[in-house]
Amino acid sequence: MAMSSIQKIAIMTSGGDAPGMNAAIRASVRMAISKNLEVVGIIGGYSGILNDQYQPLQLRSVANIIQRGGTILKTARCAEFFKPEFRKIAADKLRAQGIDGIICIGGDGSFRGAHLLHQEHSIKAIGVPGTIDNDIFGTDYTIGFDTAVNTALDAIDRIRDTAASHDRLFIVEVMGRNSGFIAAEVGLAGGAEVIFAPEYLFPIDQAVNQIKSAMSKGKMSSIIITAEGQKSGRAYDLAEAIRKKSGFDARVCILGHVQRGGSPTAADRVLASRLGAGAVEALWSGETNCMIGMNGSKLVKVPFEFIYNNKKENPRELIDLAQILSL
Ligand code: F6P
Repeated sequence: MAMSSIQKIAIMTSGGDAPGMNAAIRASVRMAISKNLEVVGIIGGYSGILNDQYQPLQLRSVANIIQRGGTILKTARCAEFFKPEFRKIAADKLRAQGIDGIICIGGDGSFRGAHLLHQEHSIKAIGVPGTIDNDIFGTDYTIGFDTAVNTALDAIDRIRDTAASHDRLFIVEVMGRNSGFIAAEVGLAGGAEVIFAPEYLFPIDQAVNQIKSAMSKGKMSSIIITAEGQKSGRAYDLAEAIRKKSGFDARVCILGHVQRGGSPTAADRVLASRLGAGAVEALWSGETNCMIGMNGSKLVKVPFEFIYNNKKENPRELIDLAQILSL
């Protein structure tokens, strides 16, 4: 087997959890062991580095987790990591543990920490995109997105039953603080009349007209999907605005953190396995300061800077198509 300067790596999950993170941890651990690397898990994201929370990981440590939601390594958002003095402490602690490189599974906020550890302290770092929001530039999909979409869709199918029985209008709020990827896919797949995404402001008048137009064609129940946007509970504000404009009495359902849990879909397990293993191969061959992403069916390496300097476009055509097809 070829040689590598890397002997010991650490794996962590950071930011909001996402179904499939465990499958990625499993893949990284087992790929690393197949290359005779020593592996430790950092418990609780970047705070775990600062608090010396490490756990040795062996083949059996990751047994029976491929199907489990959440993350066995725990996760957190670490405000201290915004301060350079704490990043210095973290780098010193990683070196003291003999860790040659880290794999960070998380969103773009988490990658910033990894990027700065590399830039300021030459810690080798590879990112694996894990967030239900699918809002990371440079990868077609992030781990957890497919599961979250299917979880939301399952709920919407149930809401449709009761909406149809009562001839009602429902507003269903899905996750996505800054991005409407979940809203767009769920809306199209769930046959929604209107989709509100943070990236595209949809005028209330237009939404009301869309519902009225559907009613004039004999449709007695309708579903509106909205991403939560900056404020969870936005669906109530929308219901009120629609009531004022049209007199329609919309029922509201907020799906919330339900979308972050549960067993990952096959697509998420495959994605997580490929990205988790790919991250180890990248570290092992000397790569650093980049994310392993998916472009079509191929793994790609995307520099961290490239991720921050670009914005992933939410496909507007899904939203428009949902509107046309819902009539
Ligand atoms: O994981 C991403 C995300 O689910 C966003 O869509 C959401 O706004 C946010 O996390 C909420 O996370 P938390 O409740 O953990 O702060």
